[in-house]
Amino acid sequence: MSAFSLKNGQLHAESVPLAEIAARFGTPCYIYSRAALEDSLDEFLHELAGIDSLVCYAMKANSNLAVLSVFARRGAGFDIVSGGELKRALAAGADPKKIVFSGVGKTAAEMSLALSTGILCFNVESAPELERLNDVAASLGRRAPISLRVNPNVDAKTHPYISTGLKENKFGVAYEDALAIYRHAASLPHLEIIGIDCHIGSQLLDPAPFDEALDKLLLLIDQLAANGIALHHIDLGGGLGIRYQDEEAPSVKSYLQPLLHKLKQRGLKILLEPGRRLVGNAGVLLTRVEYLKQGEAKNFAIVDAAMNDLARPALYDAWHDIVPVAPRQSAVSHWDVVGPICESGDFLGRQRALAIAAGDLLAILSAGAYGMAMSSNYNSRPRAAEVMVDGSQIHLVRRRESVEELYSSESLLP
Ligand code: LLP
Repeated sequence: MSAFSLKNGQLHAESVPLAEIAARFGTPCYIYSRAALEDSLDEFLHELAGIDSLVCYAMKANSNLAVLSVFARRGAGFDIVSGGELKRALAAGADPKKIVFSGVGKTAAEMSLALSTGILCFNVESAPELERLNDVAASLGRRAPISLRVNPNVDAKTHPYISTGLKENKFGVAYEDALAIYRHAASLPHLEIIGIDCHIGSQLLDPAPFDEALDKLLLLIDQLAANGIALHHIDLGGGLGIRYQDEEAPSVKSYLQPLLHKLKQRGLKILLEPGRRLVGNAGVLLTRVEYLKQGEAKNFAIVDAAMNDLARPALYDAWHDIVPVAPRQSAVSHWDVVGPICESGDFLGRQRALAIAAGDLLAILSAGAYGMAMSSNYNSRPRAAEVMVDGSQIHLVRRRESVEELYSSESLLP
């Protein structure tokens, strides 16, 4: 059951009316449900029970400290992509031994920070990165635990901007080169090979490409073993999709069962890096209608959230359901739901059938992943507040930014 539902004609998060949150903290405001976060993690933990495994939440999807701490307390690890994410994860109580570090552009400073923190693994994405990591580890008198991100060249059949496992993508090392690069890594004294990883794309609705990628990785693992390189873990990345509109998102069970079956008897620890699946449907963006404007060709509902708050519609033409917080019985019209930003791409939804009036609250659904995390201050708009609901409790987990904060690190010329 969704954590966001209508009760007595009012949209609630768990048992809190969204209107109450708007009254207390204003809009735009991101609202997360603790129960929904825990339920989505538990779905993975349930399938993985009794299996040597670790769920490393891809925190780029939503890095609010409260969200991270919900997962850390339940034993999750984290997939990070920057020194900033490492510090955030630690601030939220993450266990460094459960952190994997992905990303194509790790700096020496980030490597050094992660090494001294004692993370579980560096997911290395290129041959030059190996050299740099070896040097940094040498300078600290350590050995860096590594996995190579291998690009299995499978088609994830998702949006081109979020497809990552094809040959033309910048991520990982080519499948054909992987063996040679592993052998080279084995010759570098300050590296310790412990795993292999891949991530083929995001918002996958068909589990078949995961299976295809795993087959390729298993072949490679056998070749590595024949070359005297034994691995400790396999990391299958993230990418499992969610329902935004009317998609059939596979269950975690139907995604994992075939993979787990193939991995049985392999003696490998299994790592996963889900992001969107853990947080996407656990959050909404609450916004208020400022004006209803009858344009020449279209009707516009101008709301107080914008592309700076939720970039996905502008960036990927992504669909997010938009629903009234207190549905009206009045006649429905079609509205382009747009923000106040000076760009035609500043829309949250187009041609939405809604019965609304100025001043109404709307909830933009499935906004928990890549929502606040990708927000910006474009048009000098302070970023939204974030609230976590836990049963009947309301926690402000990030206060609204002030305009003064936006330019507090800038200076005038003398
Ligand atoms: N692991 C790695 C190495 C990744 O690059 C990503 C996402 C994940 C895990 C988590 O993927 P997920 O389970 O969330 O699909 N901004 C886009 C999504 C970009 C995903 C980038 N990498 C969006 O709003 O759809």
